[in-house]
Amino acid sequence: MIGSKKSTVSKHNSTKLRLQHHFKKYDLLDSKLALISAHRSMDSYVQKIAQLLNLRTTPITNKKFACGESYVCLNESIRNKIVYLFVPFTYNVNSRVIETFFFIDALKAAEAKEINLIIPFLPYARQDRRNHKREHVGTRVFATCLDALNGSSTKLRLITIDLHSPQIESAYRDTHIEPLQMFSLYGSLIEGLIKKENDVAVIASPDFGGVKRIEKILATSALKDKSLGVAFAYKKRTAHNKSEVKTIVGDVKDKYVILIDDIIDTAGTLIDAARMFKDNGAKKVDIIVTHGLLNDPALERMRDAQKKKIVHQLIITDTVPLSESKKELISEYGIKIKIIPTTVLVADVIARMQRDESLSFVYGNTKYISELYKGIELKKFDGK
Ligand code: R5P
Repeated sequence: MIGSKKSTVSKHNSTKLRLQHHFKKYDLLDSKLALISAHRSMDSYVQKIAQLLNLRTTPITNKKFACGESYVCLNESIRNKIVYLFVPFTYNVNSRVIETFFFIDALKAAEAKEINLIIPFLPYARQDRRNHKREHVGTRVFATCLDALNGSSTKLRLITIDLHSPQIESAYRDTHIEPLQMFSLYGSLIEGLIKKENDVAVIASPDFGGVKRIEKILATSALKDKSLGVAFAYKKRTAHNKSEVKTIVGDVKDKYVILIDDIIDTAGTLIDAARMFKDNGAKKVDIIVTHGLLNDPALERMRDAQKKKIVHQLIITDTVPLSESKKELISEYGIKIKIIPTTVLVADVIARMQRDESLSFVYGNTKYISELYKGIELKKFDGK
């Protein structure tokens, strides 16, 4: 199970050995697979996966012309290979979108046998319906473009983590989606957090829509026999990237609250909810979020919230690479942040796909995921 205690060197080495042993049994062949990082900000994520799977990565070129047009190229042959193309969606989202389309075109021209897009944080997922007349639906446009690029000669699959809403899948007609989920890992993580706190805990969502996510976490084998409370905030969206928390539902007085969400963007939603929980008597609030976008003014808000003890710690995953400037600010502001690596999960999913084994068995099975993550430290972010 994922832990948060400081480990000794020998503990670290034994976890490394255990993972080596785990992945060795899949026996993947370099000659059949190509792991590609679409953008330099994703390089270290892909390197970690390549190391676990004992594979190399395929070099590419990704650059911009003076006029701003994008250019991508595969620097070696991938003919007849099963390709895993990793695309980060962080700053310059729209550049990444066009690069994704260009990479698919290049991979098809280079005769990839199969294209697997690994997009841990799917862009435009929050634009999944029309809220106003005469506006577009970003999710549908992105899906339609991927479908259009899909061809009968190549198989295109999209692997993503914690999809904003399950119905997004229906926007894709010809692209097969594998939406990996974090609920089992969170079940195991929360089990550890509440044991450590020795407290009465409440699992909470910053909005009503997130209650389904909480129900899944509470149903995991790690938590189903524990008597944990549930709470949520009622929020009203007043503008893009702006929402107002009106009230909370659930008893949080003197409780340890663990707030769960899929995205932390400007941090307004989560911090407002945390403040409301604290105002209603919560003893301590921790936040667990999958996709740490942390766009302005998220870091300032988090710094202030932690100073005022509205939020204790923020736990995110590595699905969205943090830019250097964000890392510097986290360090400068002294924000308490911990990062869960999703690379182990994704590596296992890739390996199992190659062996035609079940994927939901990996992410939907708390016992399996706890074993897979055994000894892996929930590291305090130290600016590196
Ligand atoms: C909304 O439905 C999402 O789940 C997040 O709560 C929201 O996107 C977070 O945005 P922000 O951090 O900017 O409030």
